[in-house]
Amino acid sequence: MPADEGDALWDAAVTATAAVADAPLLEVGSYCGRSTVWLGDAAERSHRVLFAVDHHRGSEENQSGWEHHDTDVVDARTGKMDTLPHFRSAIHDADLESSVIAVVGRSPLVAANWTTPLAFLFIDGGHGREPAREDYLGWTPHVAPGGTLAIHDVFPDPADGGRPPYEEIYLPAIESGAFEETSATGSLRILRRR
Ligand SMILES: C[S@@+](CC[C@H](N)C(=O)[O-])C[C@H]1O[C@@H](n2cnc3c(N)ncnc32)[C@H](O)[C@@H]1O
Repeated sequence: MPADEGDALWDAAVTATAAVADAPLLEVGSYCGRSTVWLGDAAERSHRVLFAVDHHRGSEENQSGWEHHDTDVVDARTGKMDTLPHFRSAIHDADLESSVIAVVGRSPLVAANWTTPLAFLFIDGGHGREPAREDYLGWTPHVAPGGTLAIHDVFPDPADGGRPPYEEIYLPAIESGAFEETSATGSLRILRRR
């Protein structure tokens, strides 16, 4: 996540907490905690908590043989990706352990068991078509009226990047009539729930 997008994410999260009283923030897709640090800081300053949902096994595009694979995040014992230790270090080092709550599990399963309205939802999980669709269907109903939906890696032009966050999250949110776009920074889109 480029710094300008992180700053825009932080601004949107602080604004969302002012608009929706007493509701938490939630991030889908934390990886090693880069976006989490911006959102965790926004949560802490707003006296809220941030739930950070990730199974920490990496997305399809993070697996061995794919473009975004990093051997530093492979657990030597299991041979599987495990970004949780890196995430924990990042949250510890940012002094955000009081405001960030890691939820380690599969996003659709967590969403299906979630009941708390959200002031702010950031979707940056699996970027395949099916994971993106599941995140849209599972999580966006939990955004409170006046709350905010932030989506990362939205590329309207296919020449700029993969389509699923645009086609499976951004477009359905806009076309539902429930969300209106309030800002765009790089590939980050900020939408407000009507
Ligand atoms: C693009 S990375 C997130 C990057 C992070 N937001 C940042 O700014 O550094 C996507 C993350 O989503 C997680 N993920 C993908 N599909 C998931 C699923 N179905 N359930 C839970 N986590 C998932 C992966 O494990 C990975 O850590």
